[in-house]
Amino acid sequence: SAKIYEDLDRILVTKEEIAEKVRELGQKITKDYAGKEPVLVCILKGAVLFFSDLMREIDLPVTADFMAISSYGSATKTSGVVRVLKDLDKDIVGKDVIIVEDIVDTGVTLNYLKSMLAHRGAASIRIAALLDKTARRTVPDLKVDYVCFDIPDAFVVGYGLDYDQTYRNLPDIGVLSPKIYGDK
Ligand code: PRP
Ligand code: MN
Ligand code: MG
Repeated sequence: SAKIYEDLDRILVTKEEIAEKVRELGQKITKDYAGKEPVLVCILKGAVLFFSDLMREIDLPVTADFMAISSYGSATKTSGVVRVLKDLDKDIVGKDVIIVEDIVDTGVTLNYLKSMLAHRGAASIRIAALLDKTARRTVPDLKVDYVCFDIPDAFVVGYGLDYDQTYRNLPDIGVLSPKIYGDK
């Protein structure tokens, strides 16, 4: 993996730090949802690594479902356009839903998603995000219930996060060198 690490300016969050925070979050969700069977909704593709680690730290009979949403093109800036590329397989009427996301940036994706799932009659909806980049928020009243790390406004990749579909397999989260993305 030395090759892809060369494209980073620095490591922002190590895999050990991620593992510790994900474990803590899993324990918190286990307590908060005691006696319930929450539906964990993975937002493809960025959340897949966080999702698969988090669900193993939750000691409850959860179910898993997947949704693909796209708000970005291949560049580093959000388009503001949210598209549902793949919907949930099962309905969520009366269910306690936890939306699992890798990062909240502008908040456009989660704001759209949360209201969409609320309209389908979920009993409750909470958001669990690995990273929160609050400096970029354009939806100020979006409530992010669980956050592992608050991060600065830098272009981050790894642990599921991509640049043009690459770098998702980095075990750590790093700041991508501007020489890679230029002035896009
Ligand atoms: C990224 C990220 C979040 C969203 C956050 O997904 O994974 O889902 O953007 O941006 P926002 O808060 O400004 O809406 P992306 O659309 O890049 O798809 P991906 O998860 O497949 O990489
Ligand atoms: Mn995403
Ligand atoms: Mg992306």
